Amino acid sequence: MAIISSKKQPQEPNGESKQQKESAKASPNQDLLQAEAAIDEQGKQEESIRPQRFADYIGQKDLKDVLDIAIKAAKSRGEVLDHLLLYGPPGLGKTTMAMILASEMGVNYKITSAPALERPRDIVGLLVNIKPGDILFVDEIHRLSRMTEEILYPAMEDYRLDITIGKGSSARIRSLPLSKFTLVGATTRVGALTSPLRDRFGLVQKLRFYEVDELTQIVLRTAQLLQTPITEDGATEIARRSRGTPRIANRLLKRVRDYAEVKISGEINESVAAEALQLFQVDPCGLDWTDRKMLSVIIEQFNGGPVGLETIAAATGEDTQTIEEVYEPYLMQIGYLSRTPRGRIATKAAYKHLGFTPPNEQLSLL
Ligand code: ADE
Repeated sequence: MAIISSKKQPQEPNGESKQQKESAKASPNQDLLQAEAAIDEQGKQEESIRPQRFADYIGQKDLKDVLDIAIKAAKSRGEVLDHLLLYGPPGLGKTTMAMILASEMGVNYKITSAPALERPRDIVGLLVNIKPGDILFVDEIHRLSRMTEEILYPAMEDYRLDITIGKGSSARIRSLPLSKFTLVGATTRVGALTSPLRDRFGLVQKLRFYEVDELTQIVLRTAQLLQTPITEDGATEIARRSRGTPRIANRLLKRVRDYAEVKISGEINESVAAEALQLFQVDPCGLDWTDRKMLSVIIEQFNGGPVGLETIAAATGEDTQTIEEVYEPYLMQIGYLSRTPRGRIATKAAYKHLGFTPPNEQLSLL
């Protein structure tokens, strides 16, 4: 299944969206092309707390400013938005941003992920069904197969689909025009994209980790939507332990809500949040068992490093990709880990956080 989720913008009074009216001329059989999303209960709840417009989206100010200009300029020229590549660690809001772009532009979106586009016909099916102005969101875009990627090049550049008919010396290329669309690619590993693909994005933007005050506002907003009583201090305690990541903040809020309902049947305050998160083994900096294990292996078994990624993976039972993409970015952000060509090194701050004496201070104790 190539499409994971899709959304049509609200209909106009006569039952057609503005965009459908425009696209009807170009694609008369559009009604056949309905995309269905299998959204379960949890998915629905996640949708209900996801911000729908820039005005509700907290944080990422620089990115919002850039996108706001791009949207206004594209709208005033009556053009589609440039292709956009969003990169950064998981959970920072890349998908949400693509959905907001669609609603701000007043267009429909389709959401898919590179692993769902394994066969060339998956991407071909999506592209031929695209309507003028649509946003096609491809998550984990660094994982596209070579053939799928090559189909995307003329589609992105000239809104054209090149199909090879036949084989060997009798093979011929047929070109089909496509509707103008915007590709929004998301990746946690921008360096893993091939340069021909990266170069075809007009906008390449990074999402950064959120500040504690931004995450506090996000927790307060989500708590209100979930009708969960919480104090500002309670929200800040959750925010502090959320690794700069809204997805984690919202997940921790739900765990703390369960705890508060079962244990105290009252509002979430600072001490309730701290107690609950301690129970879930999330420490005051947001580190979990794997983070602490990674750092303690480097410190205790390798004198602080450098240690190779494979060794850290074996010691923690996590795969190297998860360590690189999920754990390390935050540990580096808070200054607990550095990556060097010879391996990973635990910093003085990491020693102190885990209750060890840093090596240079050990010398001065002698
Ligand atoms: N929920 C998840 N991310 C959010 C954000 N950036 N702003 C508001 N609510 C959110």
